[in-house]
Amino acid sequence: MTPEEKFAELERREALAEAGGGEERLAKQRAAGKMTARERVELLLDEGSFVEMDKLVTHTCHDFGLDQMIVPGDGFVTGHGLIDGRRVFVFSHDFTVFGGSLSWANAQKVCKVMDLAMKTGAPIIGLNDSGGARIQEGVASLAGYADIFLRNTLASGVTPQISAILGPCAGGAVYSPAITDFVFMVDQTSYMFVTGPDVIKTVTHEEVTKDELGGAATHNGRSGVAHFQAPDDATCLKMIRELLSFLPSNNVDDPPVKPTSDPPDRADAALDALVPPLSSQPYDIKQAIRGVVDDGYFFEVQERFAQNLVIGYGRLEGKPVGIVANQPAVLAGCLDINASVKGARFVRFCDAFNIPVLTFEDVPGFLPGTEQEFGGIIRHGAKLLYAYAEATVPKVTVITRKAYGGAYCVMGSKHVRTDVNLAWPSAEIAVMGPEQAVNIVYRRELALAADPDATRQQKINDFKERFANPYTAAERGWVDEVIRPRDTRRKVIEAFCMLENKAETNPPKKHGNIPL
Ligand code: HXC
Repeated sequence: MTPEEKFAELERREALAEAGGGEERLAKQRAAGKMTARERVELLLDEGSFVEMDKLVTHTCHDFGLDQMIVPGDGFVTGHGLIDGRRVFVFSHDFTVFGGSLSWANAQKVCKVMDLAMKTGAPIIGLNDSGGARIQEGVASLAGYADIFLRNTLASGVTPQISAILGPCAGGAVYSPAITDFVFMVDQTSYMFVTGPDVIKTVTHEEVTKDELGGAATHNGRSGVAHFQAPDDATCLKMIRELLSFLPSNNVDDPPVKPTSDPPDRADAALDALVPPLSSQPYDIKQAIRGVVDDGYFFEVQERFAQNLVIGYGRLEGKPVGIVANQPAVLAGCLDINASVKGARFVRFCDAFNIPVLTFEDVPGFLPGTEQEFGGIIRHGAKLLYAYAEATVPKVTVITRKAYGGAYCVMGSKHVRTDVNLAWPSAEIAVMGPEQAVNIVYRRELALAADPDATRQQKINDFKERFANPYTAAERGWVDEVIRPRDTRRKVIEAFCMLENKAETNPPKKHGNIPL
């Protein structure tokens, strides 16, 4: 062979890899509003930075005629590149090759980039568009998935792992993302299910559409499996880049700093009027968050799920913080099962990746009711408590209004090692609301009272005066400072600045036993 012939052979093989499952299937992919596996990688990464690996790997299956159907690369595009100049590793399923299904060979491709990500301390991003284990390969493809699950688990808490669901994903193609830290979905084109509608119809006789069962709305609003919803592939990839701008590359790095011109002492006079005069009236806690973070920019996570608890990222003096906030505008800000699990996972992620936690608290307690109790609110609420108590990153809490009962303890109280606790003058810190407290403590007295209504009101007023303020807690040092709402940004920045070199450790152990 002449050198020219050798180069031509390389080009031929590369062209075959790039052609994927062929024009017809590529056209179908595009007609469905989906980008191709390679287009996605190119758009995700900084221009021209993608370095592909294993482009010529082929599957090794000889059954069911598969030896006649060989595409170099075998339907997975893997490699590394840059996002905002920082190294990431990536794998992208090509749905045009056997439905993006996982063969033993391309499982090894994924494992290779995951191993390199771990060795070099870089995030792993999976662009999933796959029918799961390649059915024709049997146990070999299951073995491939198990190899990936193991790496997902070992990488958890070491490098951020991000999954985008960009097509119909089933079986292993949903369980691997489920172990990762953040799941993105695209509306109308992405689906996640363990078993699809046909199997469900056979087994349980339920009729359900693909979208109802596992569409973006279902997993973002209902199941909580997904964290972000995008209208199309391109927006989804942009959102992944945005999320990464808040995250360090690994668990020993600090998160990246984005310079800002927003003054650290900027006052927000609107916050003085945020809490309504009646303590039963709702308000939007996101206004407080935006009033505090740099340039009012808040990147919300799980925006559609358990909206009674708001989580997401913002920056203070350019440095990322994870924000957890009760939302009085939804369910009065009560903590229920979904909110507890949502908050716990978020706090644990922040703690694992050196992202300080800022909490805004206005919580009347855990949501009462049989549905919650039977669903295990005790066990799930304990997760949030555990996560806050375990976290050793800098923690600052601002009590804007209610801090009642167990929820007071849970939501970043001084007692779970929060470093700085601030309260607005509107704060109310007690075991429960005045009405409920009076009904219990004075039940006997009220039953005997000549005028029960007047007596009850008098007692409620007494209770409010005694507890519906931040001063009892401030007198004991459980609130470090009572501040004017307008000054919250300055005070919170001062606190995190003071905590910059915080070092705190937990007792040595193999691992704790969070109530799962
Ligand atoms: C091999 C597959 C495949 C698979 C799809 N294809 N899934 N090939 N193994 N798992 C092929 C199809 O044969 C077809 O080939 C092409 O991909 C496109 O598939 P369609 O069905 O035409 O596409 P669509 O109608 O969009 O439906 C997509 C789908 C469906 C919902 C993903 O294909 C499906 O239900 N697939 C099976 C899902 C599944 O049960 N997987 C096993 C999971 S078990 P042609 O040649 O026609 O283009 C698993 C175990 C892991 O993953 C362990 C978990 C703990």
